[in-house]
Amino acid sequence: MPTVTIDGKQVEVPDGLTILWAARKAGVNIPTYCYYPWFAPQGNCRICLVEVEGVGKLQIGCQTPVRDGMVVHTNNERVFKARRGVMEFLLLHHPLDCPICDQAGECDLQDYGYKYGFPVGRNRHLRRTFPKTDYGEKISKEMNRCIHCRRCIRLAEDYMGVHHIGMLNRGDHSEIGSYIEAAIPSGWAGNVIDICPVGALTDKKMRFSARVWDLEHVPARLKESAMKDPVKCRYGSEAMLGLYRGKIYRVTARMDEHRVMKSMICDEARFEHYDLDDWIIEEDADITTPVESGPRPARELEEMARKELEEEGKLNGGRVESPPPSEISSAPGTGMDLGRQTE
Ligand code: SF4
Ligand code: FES
Repeated sequence: MPTVTIDGKQVEVPDGLTILWAARKAGVNIPTYCYYPWFAPQGNCRICLVEVEGVGKLQIGCQTPVRDGMVVHTNNERVFKARRGVMEFLLLHHPLDCPICDQAGECDLQDYGYKYGFPVGRNRHLRRTFPKTDYGEKISKEMNRCIHCRRCIRLAEDYMGVHHIGMLNRGDHSEIGSYIEAAIPSGWAGNVIDICPVGALTDKKMRFSARVWDLEHVPARLKESAMKDPVKCRYGSEAMLGLYRGKIYRVTARMDEHRVMKSMICDEARFEHYDLDDWIIEEDADITTPVESGPRPARELEEMARKELEEEGKLNGGRVESPPPSEISSAPGTGMDLGRQTE
């Protein structure tokens, strides 16, 4: 096993591990935006730059594998300046609307902005703005805030089985959008809210109604008797409730300490159960162990649930059976509406 030194700490790690994970094992945190352990790294954002002794250019920690004897610096002046440059670039067009953004308080851009951002912006040009478009009645889309990490696209393709969102246009006109004007009843669409590291995709149901630092976060799972669609909810309702004075303000996936989802949750659990009586509280759920790889895709989860429900004789006993995730409907308001509708 290679031994590497990260910020002066020696650590022995498995062969092929990236600098990012080796650093985590050494107790050193490297910032990330586009990296998500569910997907192969793409190196889109460059906030994870680190210095490797003997290598001329800074390297991205999320994709560079360690080798024996490597000496890495994640926090020296050169690295700091590079990350500050990345932050300046990302903030060139980002609106300063944290006071009204629902992501404030759990936004990676905001957190690293405090650490690496310039106190004064140098951009004297107009910021780009996109017309208000939306993803239907559940997901609020603010493209002015997007940092183009592509996490949402990869989630839709790899885990929801939906191939209809992508990066449209080029340069500073780039935006997340749809190639077709249709709604996708994937039943898992709300997960793009949790995977977005900034406030570009947020929960429309909780919009402007609560601040996340006021909420009490309680792990819970949906009661079987409350499920309208047990095929999705059986493996899709291990959620985190956001409570304020005993009232549910939002439902999200459970996150680890790096804000990575433990698993996906279905749209029914996320958007349709705001009554505490529908939930079983699971205080002892593990929400700290870091997630190192992705869960099963939605289609597999549904197949597993369908098989089990069939064996238990519960599938057709008056239950609603869900359509397969890839089936496209043009009905507005079901799942992710990808039309360019005005809010
Ligand atoms: S919408 Fe969010 S998740 Fe998607 S690319 Fe933009 S910042 Fe990333
Ligand atoms: S997190 Fe490494 S390039 Fe984005």
